[in-house]
Amino acid sequence: MFLIFATVLSLLRFTGSFEVTVPQRRVLAVLGQPVVLGCSYTPDPKEGLDSLVVTWQRSEDQQVVHSFYYGRSQLDKQSPNYAGRTELYPALLQAGNASLRLQRVGPADTGRYLCTVSSLQGSGKGEVQLEYAAPYAEPRLNIQVKCSSISLQFESEGYPAPQVQWTGTPGKNLSTQEEVSGPGEDGLFLLRTSVTVEDPGPGVNLSFVLKNSALGQELLRPISFSLAPGGLGNSIDGTRLTIVLLISALCLLVCLGLAAFAYIRRQRT
Ligand SMILES: *[C@@H]1O[C@H](CO)[C@@H](O)[C@H](O)[C@H]1NC(C)=O
Ligand SMILES: *[C@@H]1O[C@H](CO)[C@@H](O)[C@H](O)[C@H]1NC(C)=O
Ligand SMILES: *[C@@H]1O[C@H](CO)[C@@H](O)[C@H](O)[C@H]1NC(C)=O
Repeated sequence: MFLIFATVLSLLRFTGSFEVTVPQRRVLAVLGQPVVLGCSYTPDPKEGLDSLVVTWQRSEDQQVVHSFYYGRSQLDKQSPNYAGRTELYPALLQAGNASLRLQRVGPADTGRYLCTVSSLQGSGKGEVQLEYAAPYAEPRLNIQVKCSSISLQFESEGYPAPQVQWTGTPGKNLSTQEEVSGPGEDGLFLLRTSVTVEDPGPGVNLSFVLKNSALGQELLRPISFSLAPGGLGNSIDGTRLTIVLLISALCLLVCLGLAAFAYIRRQRT
């Protein structure tokens, strides 16, 4: 009688009380920051880590991202794609926290991650969707002046592909071009977008907006030119030339500065 009672009790315990949950079904990783894929299970204070098995796997291809059994992380069982980038929280593991910390996240890491926990109490699974984004860097401006037109080009890197919009002076037709390439080895898309204003007349007011919807990032850059009366199409005009040269020199300086900055940053990381 007692035996039956005990069996039923342990069965109830086995099926009813053990649970694996993920606090967030979607997690956004940002370039340069570690991300935590949350997963928790019903802990049993009496049970040690020796009988606990935690496995983090990619749902798409069953790649082992991180596994823990026999009381320790089994790093030699891990997919090389994740080598040196994953960690559990050993101090919190026994208390029911089986979250995974992932570092140096890139576009290839996006996807579904399955957290499986088995203990003497039972087993369960939870799935987390990982997304990735990188904010767009300050756009670099490039200006090209031709006989009867001005072209402006912005360049910037980020992830995912951005939304870009140019708006200009009412009544002036803008012809815009957009090119997105990548992601490159650094995990970033390169955006090149340009606008050409034909016959700009005495001046141009433009604005450029770049949006990274994943991060709610919005870069708005107004650009305003005023040229000598008569515009670019007319014969040589000292004032106009000075302005154009000044603008070009300024751009060159800004571009050089940005390139140097980017170079130094790349060297550092
Ligand atoms: C587990 O611990 C980590 C590190 O302290 C924390 O960021 C995470 O929110 C915890 N997860 C759960 C599900 O409690
Ligand atoms: C701008 O483009 C539209 C459509 O291509 C054309 O109908 C309009 O006349 C153009 N406006 C100017 C000021 O060139
Ligand atoms: C551009 O904007 C400035 C300031 O709002 C204004 O004074 C100027 O007339 C505008 N130029 C053109 C070409 O619309």
